[in-house]
Amino acid sequence: MPPSPLRLVVLDARAPGGRSGRAVAEWFRSRARRHPDLELDVVVLAELDLPLFLPPAGHPAVAPHAARIGAADAVVVITPEYNQSFPGGLKQAIDVVRGEWAAKPVAFVTYGGVSGGLRAADQLRPVFAELHAVAIRDTVSFVRPWERLRGDRFEPDPGADAAAETLLDELTWWATLLREARTGRSAAA
Ligand SMILES: Cc1cc2nc3c(=O)[nH]c(=O)nc-3n(C[C@H](O)[C@H](O)[C@H](O)COP(=O)(O)O)c2cc1C
Repeated sequence: MPPSPLRLVVLDARAPGGRSGRAVAEWFRSRARRHPDLELDVVVLAELDLPLFLPPAGHPAVAPHAARIGAADAVVVITPEYNQSFPGGLKQAIDVVRGEWAAKPVAFVTYGGVSGGLRAADQLRPVFAELHAVAIRDTVSFVRPWERLRGDRFEPDPGADAAAETLLDELTWWATLLREARTGRSAAA
């Protein structure tokens, strides 16, 4: 158990007009809120209004986003899969931040058609490795989540609760360790 709560940034890469992204993100957030060691900061990427291409330093939309990543001890990316990868807007939200990612654990909650978004997660791993972040092995993924919508609520199989718990426990372990390490020296990058 960490000596003080860990700050978890949940990066929600849903499409604003999507069918199930909002409900999946709400489901995961409710599980993360139950975790005693975590305090949440939820970032909905579509609301950030980031420029499409890498802007010069000091862009007004980038600084607050980078500061939130900078304050994070851990990050969970919730993303759909498009064309065997993750959304372009998510890549931009990753690229506009630099050293703030370093020595932080990142986990993935994914959804999609047949692959459940796992190919998006696989492609995110080398991106985060480049940024000196630590991608967590355990992933929570959902195949055709729109079939599990009950009204506005996402109701996956009961096994999903255990998968989320495992992911959050693993993330917390890494976040505790890496927070300690970051206070010992400036992070790489
Ligand atoms: C342009 C496009 C490409 C997609 N490509 C894939 C894909 O390669 N693999 C996959 O499993 N699902 C794919 N999907 C399905 C989406 O991941 C799925 O519909 C997801 O649930 C979208 O989020 P939403 O439910 O919030 O709309 C694609 C959907 C779209 C619109």
